[in-house]
Amino acid sequence: MSLLIFNGSPRGEKSNSDIIISWFMKDITSATTVYLKKVKQHESIIEEAKSFDQLLFVFPLYVDGMPAQVKHFFERMNQHKEVFKGKEVSFIIHSGFSEAIHSKNLEKYLYRFADIMEMKIYGVFVIPGSEGFRIMPPRMTAKKAKQVAAIGRDYQRNIPFQKEVKAALEGPLVHSKSQAAYFKIIQKLGLSNLYWDQQLKKNKAFDKRFDAPYSE
Ligand SMILES: Cc1cc2nc3c(=O)[nH]c(=O)nc-3n(C[C@H](O)[C@H](O)[C@H](O)COP(=O)(O)O)c2cc1C
Repeated sequence: MSLLIFNGSPRGEKSNSDIIISWFMKDITSATTVYLKKVKQHESIIEEAKSFDQLLFVFPLYVDGMPAQVKHFFERMNQHKEVFKGKEVSFIIHSGFSEAIHSKNLEKYLYRFADIMEMKIYGVFVIPGSEGFRIMPPRMTAKKAKQVAAIGRDYQRNIPFQKEVKAALEGPLVHSKSQAAYFKIIQKLGLSNLYWDQQLKKNKAFDKRFDAPYSE
């Protein structure tokens, strides 16, 4: 089996998607990763895909959907259906928000897309709460890394993934009452905004955070 991995993040090599791919690859002996942010290379990536029989797409949720370059690539794929027909495909979608519900529409879309492309779908895996992966110390992400590696192992061995691993990775559809109460406290203490405020300040946009340019 030969595996081609598509990183669909606009951040490319510096993305949370790349971290997730490294977890997936833990026990995989060989795979090739391509970066969909290089939109001009989409045609040559389609050409490259011809020699692989397993495909994995890893990308973040963007505005409840997918990043533009992923959509662009899917449209190119649709124009080259003959290249992809019969290949096995998997998707890992991850989101900034920490509830799986945000990714559920996209999950359905991906099953439909694989169906239209006449590809065999292995699984769609949802990982909420990914924004911090790049900056978290490895011990904080160790559990998720292990779960993703287990899926990678099964995928390469060509055996079905363990349903309980997928479910654990995904977590609950929405927060439980106690989790919601915990978040409220974190919010009240101003801790939930720490990372985002830091990003806004880094990009000199902190004083614009309440701007509403399109409001009446
Ligand atoms: C323009 C933009 C739109 C986003 N939209 C969503 C969204 O609708 N829902 C969500 O949960 N996270 C959203 N996020 C957060 C990303 O999914 C999250 O930060 C992810 O970890 C980024 O992964 P990457 O580093 O691989 O690009 C968005 C991020 C950006 C920059």
